[in-house]
Amino acid sequence: MSVQDHRLRSDPRQVTATDWPAEGPADDKLLFLLNYAVLAPSILNAEPWQFTLGGGSVTLSEDRTRRLRAVDPEGREAMISCGAALFNLCTAARSFGAEPEIEMRGEEDAPAIATLSLGEVAAQPSEEDRRLRDAIPERRTVRGRFEDKPVPREALDRLQGAAAAEGTCLVWSDDAERRREVALVVAEAERSHLNDPRYREELRDWRRERRREHHDNLREVYARMGRPAGRTSAHHTRPDEVTMDAASLMRDFASADSAAARQQALVEGSPVVALLTTAGDSPGDWLAAGQALQRVLLIATAEGIFASYLNPPIEQPQLRPRLAEILGVRGKPQVLLRLGYHAPVSGTPRRPLHEVVSFETPAPE
Ligand SMILES: Cc1cc2nc3c(=O)[nH]c(=O)nc-3n(C[C@H](O)[C@H](O)[C@H](O)COP(=O)(O)O)c2cc1C
Repeated sequence: MSVQDHRLRSDPRQVTATDWPAEGPADDKLLFLLNYAVLAPSILNAEPWQFTLGGGSVTLSEDRTRRLRAVDPEGREAMISCGAALFNLCTAARSFGAEPEIEMRGEEDAPAIATLSLGEVAAQPSEEDRRLRDAIPERRTVRGRFEDKPVPREALDRLQGAAAAEGTCLVWSDDAERRREVALVVAEAERSHLNDPRYREELRDWRRERRREHHDNLREVYARMGRPAGRTSAHHTRPDEVTMDAASLMRDFASADSAAARQQALVEGSPVVALLTTAGDSPGDWLAAGQALQRVLLIATAEGIFASYLNPPIEQPQLRPRLAEILGVRGKPQVLLRLGYHAPVSGTPRRPLHEVVSFETPAPE
Protein backbone atom coordinates (compact mmCIF):
# COMPACT_ATOMS: atom_id res chain seq x y z
CA MET A 1 0.00 0.00 0.00
CA SER A 2 1.31 3.39 -0.96
CA VAL A 3 -0.48 5.18 1.82
CA GLN A 4 1.69 7.39 3.95
CA ASP A 5 1.84 6.57 7.61
CA HIS A 6 0.58 10.04 8.63
CA ARG A 7 -2.77 9.19 7.00
CA LEU A 8 -3.19 6.40 9.50
CA ARG A 9 -2.21 8.54 12.46
CA SER A 10 -4.18 11.66 11.69
CA ASP A 11 -7.50 12.55 13.32
CA PRO A 12 -10.47 11.19 11.30
CA ARG A 13 -12.50 14.21 12.35
CA GLN A 14 -10.26 16.39 10.19
CA VAL A 15 -11.24 14.55 7.00
CA THR A 16 -11.98 16.82 4.04
CA ALA A 17 -13.59 15.77 0.78
CA THR A 18 -10.93 17.58 -1.26
CA ASP A 19 -8.35 15.00 -0.06
CA TRP A 20 -10.17 12.15 -1.89
CA PRO A 21 -7.41 10.23 -3.72
CA ALA A 22 -9.30 10.14 -7.03
CA GLU A 23 -6.33 8.82 -8.99
CA GLY A 24 -5.02 6.48 -6.28
CA PRO A 25 -5.34 2.69 -6.04
CA ALA A 26 -8.50 1.15 -4.54
CA ASP A 27 -6.87 0.49 -1.16
CA ASP A 28 -5.94 4.16 -0.79
CA LYS A 29 -9.52 5.12 -1.56
CA LEU A 30 -10.90 2.62 0.94
CA LEU A 31 -8.52 3.81 3.64
CA PHE A 32 -9.60 7.39 3.01
CA LEU A 33 -13.28 6.36 3.26
CA LEU A 34 -12.64 4.80 6.68
CA ASN A 35 -12.19 8.31 8.07
CA TYR A 36 -15.91 8.76 7.42
CA ALA A 37 -16.85 5.30 8.68
CA VAL A 38 -15.37 5.85 12.14
CA LEU A 39 -17.25 9.13 12.64
CA ALA A 40 -20.38 7.04 13.19
CA PRO A 41 -21.99 7.23 16.63
CA SER A 42 -21.40 4.24 18.90
CA ILE A 43 -22.67 3.07 22.24
CA LEU A 44 -20.51 4.73 24.94
CA ASN A 45 -18.25 5.80 22.08
CA ALA A 46 -16.89 2.25 22.20
CA GLU A 47 -16.06 2.36 18.48
CA PRO A 48 -16.69 -1.42 18.47
CA TRP A 49 -15.35 -1.95 14.96
CA GLN A 50 -12.28 -3.28 13.26
CA PHE A 51 -11.43 -3.04 9.55
CA THR A 52 -9.23 -5.36 7.52
CA LEU A 53 -7.97 -3.78 4.32
CA GLY A 54 -6.15 -5.21 1.32
CA GLY A 55 -6.49 -6.40 -2.26
CA GLY A 56 -9.10 -3.79 -3.13
CA SER A 57 -11.62 -4.58 -0.39
CA VAL A 58 -12.24 -3.79 3.24
CA THR A 59 -13.96 -6.03 5.78
CA LEU A 60 -15.89 -4.54 8.67
CA SER A 61 -15.96 -6.70 11.81
CA GLU A 62 -17.28 -6.16 15.29
CA ASP A 63 -14.42 -5.76 17.78
CA ARG A 64 -15.86 -7.89 20.53
CA THR A 65 -13.16 -6.91 22.99
CA ARG A 66 -14.98 -3.57 23.13
CA ARG A 67 -18.44 -4.94 23.84
CA LEU A 68 -20.09 -3.72 27.04
CA ARG A 69 -21.10 -6.91 28.85
CA ALA A 70 -23.55 -5.41 31.37
CA VAL A 71 -24.94 -2.56 29.22
CA ASP A 72 -25.14 -4.50 25.96
CA PRO A 73 -24.87 -8.24 26.68
CA GLU A 74 -26.26 -9.44 23.34
CA GLY A 75 -24.24 -6.98 21.27
CA ARG A 76 -27.36 -5.25 19.93
CA GLU A 77 -25.99 -1.74 20.35
CA ALA A 78 -22.51 -2.73 19.14
CA MET A 79 -24.12 -4.04 15.94
CA ILE A 80 -26.23 -0.88 15.58
CA SER A 81 -23.01 1.13 15.88
CA CYS A 82 -21.34 -1.01 13.20
CA GLY A 83 -24.40 -0.53 10.95
CA ALA A 84 -23.99 3.24 11.29
CA ALA A 85 -20.30 2.93 10.33
CA LEU A 86 -21.23 0.81 7.31
CA PHE A 87 -23.77 3.41 6.22
CA ASN A 88 -21.13 6.15 6.42
CA LEU A 89 -18.68 4.05 4.41
CA CYS A 90 -21.19 3.43 1.60
CA THR A 91 -22.52 6.98 1.57
CA ALA A 92 -19.03 8.48 1.39
CA ALA A 93 -18.04 6.06 -1.40
CA ARG A 94 -21.12 7.02 -3.45
CA SER A 95 -20.53 10.70 -2.87
CA PHE A 96 -17.16 10.37 -4.60
CA GLY A 97 -18.78 8.53 -7.50
CA ALA A 98 -17.65 5.03 -6.48
CA GLU A 99 -20.43 2.43 -6.22
CA PRO A 100 -19.98 0.29 -3.08
CA GLU A 101 -20.33 -3.45 -3.67
CA ILE A 102 -21.13 -5.24 -0.46
CA GLU A 103 -20.87 -8.89 0.42
CA MET A 104 -22.65 -9.56 3.68
CA ARG A 105 -20.71 -11.97 5.90
CA GLY A 106 -22.78 -12.55 9.02
CA GLU A 107 -21.61 -16.15 9.52
CA GLU A 108 -22.95 -17.69 12.68
CA ASP A 109 -21.15 -16.21 15.68
CA ALA A 110 -18.26 -14.73 13.65
CA PRO A 111 -17.33 -11.06 14.09
CA ALA A 112 -17.00 -10.31 10.33
CA ILE A 113 -20.04 -8.32 9.18
CA ALA A 114 -19.52 -7.18 5.59
CA THR A 115 -16.84 -6.87 2.92
CA LEU A 116 -16.95 -3.82 0.70
CA SER A 117 -15.19 -3.13 -2.58
CA LEU A 118 -15.58 -0.24 -4.99
CA GLY A 119 -17.41 -0.87 -8.25
CA GLU A 120 -17.83 1.20 -11.37
CA VAL A 121 -17.35 4.90 -10.96
CA ALA A 122 -20.73 6.56 -11.49
CA ALA A 123 -20.90 9.43 -13.95
CA GLN A 124 -22.07 11.94 -11.39
CA PRO A 125 -22.62 11.42 -7.64
CA SER A 126 -26.03 12.56 -6.48
CA GLU A 127 -26.49 15.84 -4.66
CA GLU A 128 -28.14 13.89 -1.82
CA ASP A 129 -25.09 11.64 -1.31
CA ARG A 130 -22.82 14.67 -1.16
CA ARG A 131 -25.15 16.36 1.30
CA LEU A 132 -25.19 13.30 3.55
CA ARG A 133 -21.40 12.87 3.28
CA ASP A 134 -20.83 16.48 4.30
CA ALA A 135 -23.12 15.95 7.29
CA ILE A 136 -20.99 13.03 8.58
CA PRO A 137 -18.29 15.16 10.31
CA GLU A 138 -20.91 17.70 11.42
CA ARG A 139 -23.22 15.26 13.24
CA ARG A 140 -23.07 15.43 17.04
CA THR A 141 -24.91 13.77 19.90
CA VAL A 142 -26.24 16.32 22.37
CA ARG A 143 -27.32 15.58 25.92
CA GLY A 144 -28.62 18.90 27.19
CA ARG A 145 -31.98 20.60 27.07
CA PHE A 146 -33.36 21.46 23.63
CA GLU A 147 -34.54 24.91 22.65
CA ASP A 148 -38.23 25.55 23.14
CA LYS A 149 -38.99 25.34 19.43
CA PRO A 150 -41.07 22.71 17.62
CA VAL A 151 -39.62 20.48 14.92
CA PRO A 152 -41.70 20.91 11.72
CA ARG A 153 -43.80 17.87 10.84
CA GLU A 154 -42.49 17.89 7.27
CA ALA A 155 -38.95 17.44 8.63
CA LEU A 156 -40.13 14.58 10.86
CA ASP A 157 -41.83 12.98 7.87
CA ARG A 158 -38.52 13.13 5.98
CA LEU A 159 -36.77 11.39 8.89
CA GLN A 160 -39.50 8.76 8.86
CA GLY A 161 -38.95 8.30 5.11
CA ALA A 162 -35.20 7.88 5.71
CA ALA A 163 -35.82 5.05 8.19
CA ALA A 164 -38.27 3.41 5.78
CA ALA A 165 -35.70 3.58 2.96
CA GLU A 166 -33.50 1.28 5.08
CA GLY A 167 -36.36 -1.16 5.75
CA THR A 168 -37.06 0.06 9.30
CA CYS A 169 -39.69 2.22 10.96
CA LEU A 170 -39.33 5.52 12.81
CA VAL A 171 -42.34 6.50 14.85
CA TRP A 172 -42.35 9.91 16.50
CA SER A 173 -44.57 11.87 18.84
CA ASP A 174 -44.72 15.51 19.87
CA ASP A 175 -47.76 14.91 22.04
CA ALA A 176 -47.15 16.00 25.66
CA GLU A 177 -48.88 12.98 27.19
CA ARG A 178 -46.91 10.47 25.02
CA ARG A 179 -43.66 12.25 25.90
CA ARG A 180 -44.55 12.05 29.58
CA GLU A 181 -45.25 8.33 29.34
CA VAL A 182 -41.95 7.74 27.52
CA ALA A 183 -40.17 9.92 30.09
CA LEU A 184 -41.51 7.72 32.90
CA VAL A 185 -40.15 4.58 31.20
CA VAL A 186 -36.77 6.27 30.68
CA ALA A 187 -36.69 7.27 34.35
CA GLU A 188 -37.55 3.71 35.42
CA ALA A 189 -34.76 2.34 33.21
CA GLU A 190 -32.29 4.87 34.58
CA ARG A 191 -33.16 3.97 38.18
CA SER A 192 -32.88 0.27 37.59
CA HIS A 193 -29.54 0.62 35.74
CA LEU A 194 -28.01 2.77 38.48
CA ASN A 195 -29.20 0.40 41.19
CA ASP A 196 -27.48 -2.50 39.43
CA PRO A 197 -23.93 -2.99 40.79
CA ARG A 198 -22.80 -4.76 37.56
CA TYR A 199 -23.84 -1.77 35.50
CA ARG A 200 -22.12 0.74 37.78
CA GLU A 201 -18.99 -1.38 37.88
CA GLU A 202 -18.90 -1.61 34.09
CA LEU A 203 -19.21 2.17 33.70
CA ARG A 204 -16.42 2.69 36.23
CA ASP A 205 -14.15 0.18 34.51
CA TRP A 206 -14.99 1.64 31.10
CA ARG A 207 -14.09 5.09 32.29
CA ARG A 208 -10.80 3.86 33.72
CA GLU A 209 -9.94 2.06 30.50
CA ARG A 210 -10.73 5.04 28.29
CA ARG A 211 -8.58 7.26 30.49
CA ARG A 212 -5.77 4.76 30.24
CA GLU A 213 -6.18 4.82 26.46
CA HIS A 214 -6.11 8.64 26.61
CA HIS A 215 -9.44 8.35 24.88
CA ASP A 216 -10.85 11.41 26.51
CA ASN A 217 -14.43 11.02 25.44
CA LEU A 218 -16.56 10.14 28.36
CA ARG A 219 -19.67 12.21 27.80
CA GLU A 220 -22.09 9.33 27.64
CA VAL A 221 -20.42 7.68 30.63
CA TYR A 222 -20.98 10.81 32.69
CA ALA A 223 -24.51 11.23 31.35
CA ARG A 224 -25.28 7.67 32.40
CA MET A 225 -23.76 8.30 35.82
CA GLY A 226 -26.34 11.00 36.24
CA ARG A 227 -24.03 13.98 35.94
CA PRO A 228 -25.38 17.17 34.47
CA ALA A 229 -24.13 17.40 30.89
CA GLY A 230 -22.11 20.58 31.46
CA ARG A 231 -19.77 18.96 33.98
CA THR A 232 -18.10 16.53 31.62
CA SER A 233 -15.72 18.99 30.02
CA ALA A 234 -14.51 20.10 33.43
CA HIS A 235 -13.26 16.55 33.94
CA HIS A 236 -10.07 16.74 32.08
CA THR A 237 -8.30 13.53 32.89
CA ARG A 238 -4.68 12.68 33.49
CA PRO A 239 -3.34 9.13 33.31
CA ASP A 240 -2.41 9.14 37.01
CA GLU A 241 -6.04 9.74 37.96
CA VAL A 242 -6.83 6.12 37.15
CA THR A 243 -5.46 5.08 40.51
CA MET A 244 -8.47 6.72 42.24
CA ASP A 245 -9.83 4.44 44.91
CA ALA A 246 -13.12 2.64 44.49
CA ALA A 247 -14.89 4.66 47.16
CA SER A 248 -14.24 7.98 45.42
CA LEU A 249 -15.35 6.47 42.13
CA MET A 250 -18.62 5.39 43.76
CA ARG A 251 -19.25 8.92 44.94
CA ASP A 252 -19.13 10.04 41.30
CA PHE A 253 -22.52 8.50 40.64
CA ALA A 254 -25.55 10.66 41.26
CA SER A 255 -28.29 8.95 43.25
CA ALA A 256 -30.45 6.79 41.02
CA ASP A 257 -33.50 8.88 41.92
CA SER A 258 -31.97 12.24 41.07
CA ALA A 259 -30.50 10.91 37.79
CA ALA A 260 -33.88 9.46 36.85
CA ALA A 261 -35.67 12.71 37.68
CA ARG A 262 -33.20 14.65 35.57
CA GLN A 263 -33.67 12.38 32.57
CA GLN A 264 -37.44 12.47 32.98
CA ALA A 265 -37.45 16.27 32.90
CA LEU A 266 -35.21 16.31 29.82
CA VAL A 267 -37.52 13.99 27.92
CA GLU A 268 -40.71 15.77 28.96
CA GLY A 269 -39.17 19.07 27.91
CA SER A 270 -38.05 17.84 24.47
CA PRO A 271 -40.13 18.75 21.43
CA VAL A 272 -40.19 15.20 20.01
CA VAL A 273 -39.48 11.61 21.03
CA ALA A 274 -38.81 9.08 18.28
CA LEU A 275 -38.46 5.31 18.32
CA LEU A 276 -36.67 3.33 15.62
CA THR A 277 -38.00 -0.22 15.23
CA THR A 278 -37.31 -3.23 13.04
CA ALA A 279 -39.61 -6.11 12.03
CA GLY A 280 -37.29 -8.77 13.48
CA ASP A 281 -34.79 -8.79 16.31
CA SER A 282 -31.74 -10.62 14.94
CA PRO A 283 -28.18 -9.28 14.52
CA GLY A 284 -29.10 -8.58 10.87
CA ASP A 285 -32.01 -6.41 12.06
CA TRP A 286 -29.69 -4.58 14.46
CA LEU A 287 -27.29 -3.88 11.61
CA ALA A 288 -30.16 -2.54 9.49
CA ALA A 289 -31.26 -0.41 12.44
CA GLY A 290 -27.76 1.10 12.57
CA GLN A 291 -27.82 1.93 8.87
CA ALA A 292 -31.27 3.48 9.22
CA LEU A 293 -30.26 5.37 12.34
CA GLN A 294 -27.35 6.94 10.54
CA ARG A 295 -29.44 7.92 7.51
CA VAL A 296 -31.95 9.55 9.88
CA LEU A 297 -29.23 11.34 11.86
CA LEU A 298 -27.44 12.67 8.79
CA ILE A 299 -30.64 14.06 7.30
CA ALA A 300 -31.46 15.60 10.68
CA THR A 301 -27.96 17.13 10.83
CA ALA A 302 -28.32 18.57 7.33
CA GLU A 303 -31.59 20.18 8.47
CA GLY A 304 -30.11 21.58 11.70
CA ILE A 305 -31.94 19.11 13.97
CA PHE A 306 -30.08 17.46 16.86
CA ALA A 307 -30.67 14.05 18.39
CA SER A 308 -30.12 12.76 21.88
CA TYR A 309 -30.26 9.04 22.78
CA LEU A 310 -32.36 7.53 25.52
CA ASN A 311 -31.24 3.95 25.25
CA PRO A 312 -31.43 2.61 28.83
CA PRO A 313 -35.03 1.29 28.29
CA ILE A 314 -33.89 -0.46 25.10
CA GLU A 315 -31.24 -2.22 27.19
CA GLN A 316 -33.89 -3.73 29.47
CA PRO A 317 -35.96 -6.47 27.80
CA GLN A 318 -39.03 -5.89 29.98
CA LEU A 319 -39.19 -2.19 28.98
CA ARG A 320 -38.83 -2.53 25.20
CA PRO A 321 -42.44 -3.67 24.61
CA ARG A 322 -43.71 -0.82 26.83
CA LEU A 323 -42.05 1.73 24.53
CA ALA A 324 -43.63 0.13 21.46
CA GLU A 325 -47.01 0.12 23.16
CA ILE A 326 -46.86 3.78 24.21
CA LEU A 327 -45.88 4.87 20.72
CA GLY A 328 -48.36 2.50 19.07
CA VAL A 329 -45.93 0.53 16.94
CA ARG A 330 -45.69 -3.24 16.44
CA GLY A 331 -41.98 -3.59 15.60
CA LYS A 332 -38.98 -4.33 17.81
CA PRO A 333 -37.56 -1.20 19.48
CA GLN A 334 -33.88 -0.56 18.69
CA VAL A 335 -33.10 3.11 19.37
CA LEU A 336 -35.00 5.73 21.36
CA LEU A 337 -34.23 9.38 20.59
CA ARG A 338 -35.38 12.81 21.52
CA LEU A 339 -35.10 15.43 18.80
CA GLY A 340 -34.91 19.19 18.75
CA TYR A 341 -32.80 22.29 18.26
CA HIS A 342 -29.67 23.08 20.23
CA ALA A 343 -26.66 25.39 20.14
CA PRO A 344 -23.61 23.85 18.40
CA VAL A 345 -21.59 21.39 20.52
CA SER A 346 -18.01 20.24 20.06
CA GLY A 347 -17.23 16.94 18.37
CA THR A 348 -16.10 13.86 20.27
CA PRO A 349 -12.68 12.36 19.52
CA ARG A 350 -12.10 9.15 17.59
CA ARG A 351 -9.27 6.65 17.72
CA PRO A 352 -6.77 7.20 14.90
CA LEU A 353 -7.14 4.79 11.99
CA HIS A 354 -4.01 2.81 12.86
CA GLU A 355 -5.87 1.51 15.92
CA VAL A 356 -8.86 0.23 13.94
CA VAL A 357 -7.37 -0.92 10.63
CA SER A 358 -5.23 -3.96 10.00
CA PHE A 359 -3.72 -4.82 6.64
CA GLU A 360 -3.84 -8.10 4.83
CA THR A 361 -0.30 -7.40 3.73
CA PRO A 362 1.85 -5.28 6.07
CA ALA A 363 1.85 -1.55 5.32
CA PRO A 364 5.31 -0.18 4.47
CA GLU A 365 7.04 1.92 7.11
C1 LIG B 1 -26.78 2.33 19.79
C2 LIG B 1 -26.36 3.61 20.50
C3 LIG B 1 -26.87 3.89 21.76
C4 LIG B 1 -26.51 5.07 22.43
N1 LIG B 1 -27.04 5.32 23.66
C5 LIG B 1 -26.74 6.47 24.29
C6 LIG B 1 -27.36 6.78 25.54
O1 LIG B 1 -28.18 6.03 26.06
N2 LIG B 1 -27.02 7.95 26.15
C7 LIG B 1 -26.14 8.83 25.58
O2 LIG B 1 -25.87 9.87 26.18
N3 LIG B 1 -25.57 8.58 24.37
C8 LIG B 1 -25.85 7.42 23.71
N4 LIG B 1 -25.29 7.17 22.49
C9 LIG B 1 -24.44 8.18 21.83
C10 LIG B 1 -22.94 7.92 21.99
O3 LIG B 1 -22.53 8.19 23.31
C11 LIG B 1 -22.19 8.80 21.00
O4 LIG B 1 -22.51 8.38 19.69
C12 LIG B 1 -20.69 8.74 21.19
O5 LIG B 1 -20.31 9.27 22.44
C13 LIG B 1 -19.95 9.51 20.08
O6 LIG B 1 -20.34 10.86 20.08
P1 LIG B 1 -21.00 11.52 18.77
O7 LIG B 1 -22.28 10.80 18.49
O8 LIG B 1 -21.21 12.95 19.13
O9 LIG B 1 -20.02 11.35 17.64
C14 LIG B 1 -25.63 5.99 21.81
C15 LIG B 1 -25.11 5.70 20.52
C16 LIG B 1 -25.49 4.53 19.87
C17 LIG B 1 -24.97 4.25 18.48
